[in-house]
Formats: sequence, structure tokens, C-alpha cells
Amino acid sequence: MIVTTPHEAGAAVIAQAQELAREWGVPFVERRKQPLSRLYAHSPDVLVITEAGFKAHREGEARPLFFHPGMAMLRIKRLLSGDTDAMVQAFALMPGDAVLDCTLGLAGDAIVASYAAGASGRVVGLESSSILARVMADGLTRYESGIQELDEAMRRIEVRNEQHLTFLAQCENNSFDIVYFDPMFFVPIEASESISPLRPFADHAPLIEEAVAEAVRVARRRVVMKNHSRSPDFARLGFMRIPKAVERTFTYGIIDTGGDA
Ligand SMILES: C[S@@+](CC[C@H](N)C(=O)[O-])C[C@H]1O[C@@H](n2cnc3c(N)ncnc32)[C@H](O)[C@@H]1O
Repeated sequence: MIVTTPHEAGAAVIAQAQELAREWGVPFVERRKQPLSRLYAHSPDVLVITEAGFKAHREGEARPLFFHPGMAMLRIKRLLSGDTDAMVQAFALMPGDAVLDCTLGLAGDAIVASYAAGASGRVVGLESSSILARVMADGLTRYESGIQELDEAMRRIEVRNEQHLTFLAQCENNSFDIVYFDPMFFVPIEASESISPLRPFADHAPLIEEAVAEAVRVARRRVVMKNHSRSPDFARLGFMRIPKAVERTFTYGIIDTGGDA
């Protein structure tokens, strides 16, 4: 990966990009008038630091990756108007809960969990792809949605660029109420069109039994997995599948770990 700026960047953005490149130990390349196609000679991954946020480009991919609370905003608006959310229900999530999101991705689920857990709750989001973790950490810290509850929910999320198995292995027993996995589906589905810019940067490794066993130890109340409704992973990993809602191609599976609500 290299770090650069847009063509017309001001001194402050250039200084920020140089500082980040130094902090991450990756090359900073001065943009001058260079098109992206020229920058790919340095690396297939180009992270552009802009005044509004980070944009990650991968050579050969049409769409860049950037932070946007998109679907989370819709889901929170629905919750604000008194509607339910299938994930919040699958979590049996309550204000004050501590949630470990083991697969942060575009952070949509983490934002909704953070909103539902409220100011007294805690959400930690783990992401093994460093470029994704960096883009999300930046967006969650400074994106202004115009909805106070959403902005506060985003600011509360703690992003960590880590493999979930490594993190889970270091957690105390029962240290989170809910542990959540949303691994990449093997076959991209229509409903996941909104996550397509994530695919080139994402870690596609399947969820392993050892990680689920650690999650069961760490989760005080429940381990939840989202997956394709026909995924064999529910049975393979010991999750009780919630019957899918009619219009959905995915559903949630649950392992109850016995803690009281
Ligand atoms: C389907 S996406 C999650 C989408 C997310 N729930 C959302 O709302 O945007 C799965 C994410 O998990 C990440 N991931 C896969 N394996 C991981 C691991 N072992 N540790 C941490 N993150 C992982 C991938 O890089 C990808 O970004």
C-alpha cells in the first residue's frame, strides 16, 4: 500500500498524509499531477487521504472503498421510529451491553449495535484487513451524518486492526455480552451489492471452529453469526439457525452461552 493525496490537496492534508504514512510505515508518494494508473506502479493499493476522509483504490477495481454509514443510517432511523432490527433481535441486545464485532467490514452492524447498546454500552470492532480498519477507524471518528444519535454511536466504536482469533484468545471469560461474526459469503449475493467495494480488500478466510470455541468462552450471553440462509456453516459450527425472514437471503445463528439478560 502507498499513501497519497488528491491532486489539489492543501498543505494540511499533505502533512496529514505524510504523518500517517510514517506512523503506518508505508511509503508516501507525492501526487503532483499523477493519475491513479501511474501510482499503481508503486502498489496495487493506493490510499488517498482527502479532507473529507480516506479513499482506498485497488488496481483493476472500478469503485473505491470509503466510509459511509449508508444502511446503518436507515436502520437507526427505523429503530428511532420504534421499528425493530433483525440483528438487534438476534443479539437480544440491551442498553449497557458490551459487544465484540469480530468482523467489522464496513462497520454497519457495529454502528447499529453501538446505537442499541447506548452510551453505557461498549462496541469493539475487529478487522484483519489493515486498509479496511484504517478507512473505517477514520470515518467512524469524523463522519458527520447530521443525526446526533448516529454520530455518537459511531464515535463510541473501538476499532482494532487484528485477527479475531488472536484478540479472542487474549480476552477474559465472559468479558463481552455478545460476540458477533459476519464472515464473507462464498458467493456474493444480490443483497450484498452495497458491500461490493469491500470485497477486494476483505479477508475471505472462512470462520474456523477454534474462533467459535473462543467466542463461546468470551461471550457472557450469546455468540451470533450472520450467514447465507443455506450456509452449511450454521451446522458445522454449532449455531442454532433463526428461520429466515421471507425477503432475506441471509439469516442469523445463535449459540446461547448461559448468562442472564
Ligand atoms: C461480510 S464483512 C462484515 C460486514 C459487516 N458486518 C458490516 O456491517 O459492514 C466481513 C469482514 O470481516 C473481515 N474478517 C474476515 N476474517 C477476519 C478475521 N479473522 N479477523 C478479523 N476480521 C476478519 C473481512 O476482512 C471483512 O471486512
